[in-house]
Formats: sequence, C-alpha cells, structure tokens
Amino acid sequence: MAIFCKRKGFAYASGEIYGGLAGLFDYGHLGVLLKRNFEDLWRDFFLGLDDNFAEIESSEIMPEKVFVASGHLKNFNDFASKCKKGHIERADHLLEKNLKKRFEGLTSEQLFEKIKENKILCSVCGSQIESVEITNMMFPLQLGFGNNAKAFLRPETAQSPYVNFKIQSEVMRKKLPLGLALIGKAYRNELSPRNFLLRQRAFTQAELQIFFNPAKISEHEKFEEVKDYFLNVVLSGERDKGIQKIKCINLLNKIPKFYIYYMAKVQQFYFKVLGFPENKFRFYQLNEHEKAFYNKYHFDMEADLDAVGWTEIGGVHYRTDHDLKGHQEISGENLSFFDEESKEKFIPHVLELSFGVDRNFYSILNFAYFYDEKRQNIVLRLHPNLAPVKVAVFPIVKREELEKISEEIFYDLKKDFNAVYDRSGSIGRRYARNDEIGTLFCITIDEDSLKKKEVTVRIRDNAEQVRIKIKDLRESLGKAINDGEDMSKLGKIVNTRKK
Ligand code: GAP
Repeated sequence: MAIFCKRKGFAYASGEIYGGLAGLFDYGHLGVLLKRNFEDLWRDFFLGLDDNFAEIESSEIMPEKVFVASGHLKNFNDFASKCKKGHIERADHLLEKNLKKRFEGLTSEQLFEKIKENKILCSVCGSQIESVEITNMMFPLQLGFGNNAKAFLRPETAQSPYVNFKIQSEVMRKKLPLGLALIGKAYRNELSPRNFLLRQRAFTQAELQIFFNPAKISEHEKFEEVKDYFLNVVLSGERDKGIQKIKCINLLNKIPKFYIYYMAKVQQFYFKVLGFPENKFRFYQLNEHEKAFYNKYHFDMEADLDAVGWTEIGGVHYRTDHDLKGHQEISGENLSFFDEESKEKFIPHVLELSFGVDRNFYSILNFAYFYDEKRQNIVLRLHPNLAPVKVAVFPIVKREELEKISEEIFYDLKKDFNAVYDRSGSIGRRYARNDEIGTLFCITIDEDSLKKKEVTVRIRDNAEQVRIKIKDLRESLGKAINDGEDMSKLGKIVNTRKK
C-alpha cells in the first residue's frame, strides 16, 4: 500500500528528500482529493443526522490544564519495553508480535511479567528486555519565551468541543442533544509508529461529540428506523462466537438505545455511503480492562485489511460526564445545562463518534485496490462518491481540431466534476493510468466526434464503452456519478468487454 501510494502520489513520508521521519506523512494532490471526499461525506452524513449538530474548528495547541481535567496527563500512557542495549518498543506490540494475540489493558508490571514468562527478546537486537516503563504520549510545547505557559499538542480532537461546549450551547439552540463535530489533526508521540498511515505521530481525526441528557439514554426518537437493522458485532463476553449479526432491537438488553442508534448510523455510513464490503467491517466491544479510561461503553469500529487483518479505524464511545465534569472542576466554570423541556439542570453526558481519517483513507484504498488480470493493470474501484478524479478527457490523437473540441468538453465538464485532460501516450496507456487512480469515466474524442457530435465514454469498472452525444454528456455523467445510474444504459454500447 505504501509503495502504491507513493508511486501514484497519494501519500508518502514527510520530508522525503531528507529521508523522512518515522510516523509522519504528507498527502499529495490525489491523496488530498480522496481524503477531502471522505471528510465531506462524513460531514454530510453525520451533521445531517440532527438539526442541532454543527461543526467547529479549534486550536491544536491547548493549555496543560485541559489535559489535567481530561485525565490525559495522568492516564494517556504507553508502556515502553527497554532492552539491555537501550532499544525501546511498545511492550504490548512486542507481546502481540511474538504471541499473535492482543494484549490490551495490562499494567506495566503485568506486561513485564508476560515478557519474562515467555522469554521474549528485543526485536531489534535480540537482547534481554530489562524493564517496562510508563511513558506519556502527549507532545509538550513551549509557548513564547521566558514565560511558564505550559501547553500540549492535542492528542485527540475531542477536548476542543468539550472546552467549547459552554459557548456553543449558549449560541446554538439551547437544546439537547447538541452535536459538535471537528475534523482536525491530533498528535501522539507513538513509541513505535508503524504500518504506514495506520500508526502515525500526527494524524487526522473526524469526531462528533453528542451532548445529551443522561436521563434519556434509553431513548432515541428515530430508533424505530433502525430497530430491525442488523449490526456486525463482536461482544466482549461472547468473543468465542466471533462476529454476530444482531438486530438493533435485540441489543437493547446489553446497550442503551441512544448508543445503539448511533452504532447503526455508523455502520450505514460504512456500507451505504463508502461502500465497504459487509463482511469486512465489525464493531468490537472492549471489556472493562481494555476500554479507554474515559469510557463506560466502548466499541471499536474495525476493518479487515489485507496486510494487517482486523484494524481499529474508529470508535463509538460513551464518555459519560467524565470530560465536562473534569473541565468544570479545573476551570471553575459552571458547565451544567438547564434543560427547558424537563426543567432539569445537569452536566450533559457525551456519546462520541470517533473516526481516524487516515485509517479510513487506508481502508478505502485497501478495499478499492484490485489487480485486473485481463487488463494486467491495477484498477482502483473506488466508490463514485470517493473517486478523486471523476472524468478524464482524451483527444484520440494529437490533432488541432480534435484537441480544440476536447478542451471545450474538458472545460465544460470541469464546471461539474473533478476532471483531468490527458493527451499523452497511447489510449491504452491513458486508460491504465486512470484506472490506477480510480477515474470513473474516460472520454475519448475521435474523428466521429467532429462529424456526428458524439464521444466514447469508457466505464472504469467493466471497460465497456458507450457512445454519447456531446450535448447530453454533462447530464449523463451527472446521472451516473451523482445519482448512481448505470452509464451503459445512458448511451449506445459499442464494445462488449464486460467481465
Ligand atoms: N477521541 C477518542 C479517541 O481519540 P482513540 O481510539 O484514541 O479515541 C480514535 O482514537 C481513532 O483515531 C482511532 O480509532 C484511530 O482510527 C485513530 N488513531 C488513533 N491513533 C492513531 C495513530 N497513531 N495514527 C493514526 N490514526 C490513529
């Protein structure tokens, strides 16, 4: 994946020409388009769930007190195993690598015991592990000169909506549930960054914090819509059963209604909006020892990725009043909310929908990546919503008249779609280049285009070609790209290379 992404310019090590730095990556032009498409779809879908959900933006640098209040200063730790020669590695990863199972929720002493018990050695030099120590994962910063203002790069976007809650709940509709969404960078000093975009030191999160009345956790006005919807879940007490497909209504004895409703929406986002394969996505419940320190209920969203297996790409977290209570205590501001409807005053609870954008980006590419034996070429079968380039326009040969009309078509299409103009190389080469980046349709302008005012539209997924009148082209592409209509039915088929 890393090689492919670099070759096509999607993403690559940051500061490449200096050899890069572990855990830091840059997104190139196509990568930005794909990432932005994901973020826009996320915004449309999740902000569309409720009129009282909105987006904010916030500083990535936050005062130390924020993280005293949230508990990150004390609890946001990794466990570093150190060998005789001084090599440092994440102790749970070292165990995982050697014993091929997960090690979450153990103390440093327990991790060290397990390492000794299984005679596990340093994976860099093979020498003995001498200790397992706790290390905080946040990046401290010095602000300005000569003052004592202590600050950190935020390790999650979530704290920003929490410290914004007071202002936003006043200026918004003074009504709960209130959703504050934020897409932005988070920073963690990972001990062992690894697996390309999957474990970085600077990454993007898309998180929605839903503030609600805890007395209403067993309600959701739209639950009826999802009650018969099946969720793919691995329950913490029933892991031996693997993935179970359970109707939302049948989970009510285990998880509150408000929480289940949003799990259903998250899964629908993956299946309906992003087009993830349904057997490659699951919710994995974490138990008492494994869940994050701020959570009461914790399900990870996981995708089954080719090279690495089931991987966490997000989470649905019931954070209770953990964060707001902490901020109220440390800031001295009253963060309670007066609910006009119930005439009650309380500190709202928070349900968090958390997505790692880079891990989703990776998963999207993983599921789209396909080597077509017939074409002897990679075809990136991205969902039309996600494809960074929707249309490529080619004059069949370099001839002035053909190029003139091709350019006219290109500039016309560019008004509606992200389009590219490509005039170099054979048509086969140009198809292959566009298949590799997931371009949905390639439009070729030939002699007949001059005479009959028609073009050939070649469809990425089945390599079928249809002839379409130039005057109908923009509308037909709109129907295929935005409304999901079948392009082969919108024109006259001129080849039958259907696979
Ligand atoms: N606000 C809750 C929170 O931050 P998390 O499970 O620590 O929860 C949320 O992180 C998501 O952020 C993860 O599910 C993952 O997709 C992404 N993420 C976390 N650490 C990451 C890293 N080092 N590199 C890339 N993505 C990461």
